[in-house]
Amino acid sequence: MRILGIETSCDDTGAAIYDSEERLLAHRLHSQIALHGDYGGVVPELAARDHIRKLLPLVKQVMQDAATDAAAIDGVAYTAGPGLAGALLVGAAVGRALAWSWGVPAVGVHHMEGHLLSPMLEKIAPAFPFLALLVSGGHTLLADVEDIGHYTVLGESLDDAVGEAFDKIAKLLGLGYPGGPAIAEAAATATGDDRFVFPRPMTDRPGLDFSFSGLKTYTVNTARRHAHLDAQIVANIAYAFQEAVVDTLIIKCRRALGQTGHTRLVVAGGVGANRRLRQRLKETAKDEGIEIYYPRPEFCTDNGAMIAYAGYLRLRAGQHEPQAFDVFPRWRLGDLAPPGNRRGPGER
Ligand code: KG4
Ligand code: ZN
Repeated sequence: MRILGIETSCDDTGAAIYDSEERLLAHRLHSQIALHGDYGGVVPELAARDHIRKLLPLVKQVMQDAATDAAAIDGVAYTAGPGLAGALLVGAAVGRALAWSWGVPAVGVHHMEGHLLSPMLEKIAPAFPFLALLVSGGHTLLADVEDIGHYTVLGESLDDAVGEAFDKIAKLLGLGYPGGPAIAEAAATATGDDRFVFPRPMTDRPGLDFSFSGLKTYTVNTARRHAHLDAQIVANIAYAFQEAVVDTLIIKCRRALGQTGHTRLVVAGGVGANRRLRQRLKETAKDEGIEIYYPRPEFCTDNGAMIAYAGYLRLRAGQHEPQAFDVFPRWRLGDLAPPGNRRGPGER
């Protein structure tokens, strides 16, 4: 089974071809970072317009890379949500139209399910069941994963997602967008003598939920206490912020592992690319005697490969969107029913 995967939920246009026998055949990404950089964050309307420009050429490219013509494609997977409405609509419209014209099924994939299953694209892939830590620009959550589609959210952020907090603090410190890699880079140049220690939010009470807005305010207040934010102070603040975030994630992961008894931990989403987090997770794995699985760094952030893979699993199980739409040349007014009951003549 050969699947075209399309990702357009936010500021990356992704396309990939996944084959059930030969695995990932091709993937490409067009990043909109330069487009949104001047605004310090994603501008939804610009994102959608850029997906329109870039998506079809990208699809053509991956098909060429994979030496695949349309006749060899068995299904199309696209991100159906969550994400920016306009951006999602581009991927959905293109995905559904291609599937329809090729006469193959299409399936709308949940973006976070794509992230969650992305480590399965790797050679050393996790087996179900496992604990998942999903850390992206839009979500921070811990989930008990029994099987595909069997997810129990154990805890999530009550306010900002962790990636969002990275992005906002980077903006405050004048480090640019996207904030995660910029903070990590600045933190690497911190000095030992003037380090700050920031709070680890919600770790002193039971539960697996997260909250990053208090830490964000604490960081903002620390920055404001310095009339002149030179590069060293910025680096030290970035360091203290990253330490607080990473430590908080580690504390909650340990707690969730203890609670569920899982011996496998999957970490995915953009913040999963953070080197300090990976280092601390490695130590945790050793201490707890568990195994950790990540996608490669380029599949931590948004990409088409994870959507192709999640879509493949769902299409293989027989799930797909209705392919056809109907018009009714003979349709009596009297055949109409209240909304949601009948879609056309004869359908009751
Ligand atoms: O998964 P993703 O590409 O998009 C969403 O689904 O949101 O995640 C993007 C987020 C951004 O907030 C970005 O700052 C963060 O992931 N990020 C990082 C790193 N690389 C990306 N955060 C911390 N450290 C990184 N190395
Ligand atoms: Zn994402």
